Amino acid sequence: MEIIISPSILAADFNILGQQIKEVERSGAKYLHIDVMDGMFVPSISFGMPVIRSIRKNTDLIFDVHLMIEQPMRYLEEFADCGADMITFHLEAAGDHVEETIDRIHALGCKAGLSIKPATPVSVVEPYVEKLDMILIMTVEPGFGGQKYIESSTEKIRQMRQIVTEHGLETDIQVDGGITVDNVSVVKEAGANVIVAGSAVFKGDIASNVKRLM
Ligand code: DX5
Ligand code: ZN
Repeated sequence: MEIIISPSILAADFNILGQQIKEVERSGAKYLHIDVMDGMFVPSISFGMPVIRSIRKNTDLIFDVHLMIEQPMRYLEEFADCGADMITFHLEAAGDHVEETIDRIHALGCKAGLSIKPATPVSVVEPYVEKLDMILIMTVEPGFGGQKYIESSTEKIRQMRQIVTEHGLETDIQVDGGITVDNVSVVKEAGANVIVAGSAVFKGDIASNVKRLM
């Protein structure tokens, strides 16, 4: 499967965000990972629609929006409207509305991703696999950049890839959190093909960091 790098702007220098996004473009990364936090689903707050709308004017990168917010249904239209190409939400945040949320994202013309936290088993994703464009296996507890990769994630990635394959699908499996040049080959080998990286991209030279993760 094609390996896609999705640099997470959470680790960018917001003082020169536009400039750094241009460097991401030149690096060969295809996606831009945009972490939205509400201070409820996760302890921290990041940024929201005005920032996304503003950087949308600056780049054609695919906007991979990761919603770490409670009841994501409330804001899908606004995120689609401000420039998201893909919207990933958390199964744990959607209550009984997982399927409805996926359908709504599609109706808005975006690709739909479903994410699970480290403690959530991959089996709960299975009922939705046929509908999903991407599955995000969190490899750290969502909420902050710069954390250490949780080793038990590797087995979850493997299990998720197996489930997807059993369904005759080639759904993208994304990993997010603590990915570095030292462990990227482990997650790829386990079956992940969309690689989010924050610190590992934005600390140092963006272009050469992306190349080393590819
Ligand atoms: C964490 C976010 C991640 C974060 C990853 O909740 O979802 O996207 O930016 O940062 P690193 O790659 O530094 O672990
Ligand atoms: Zn993320």
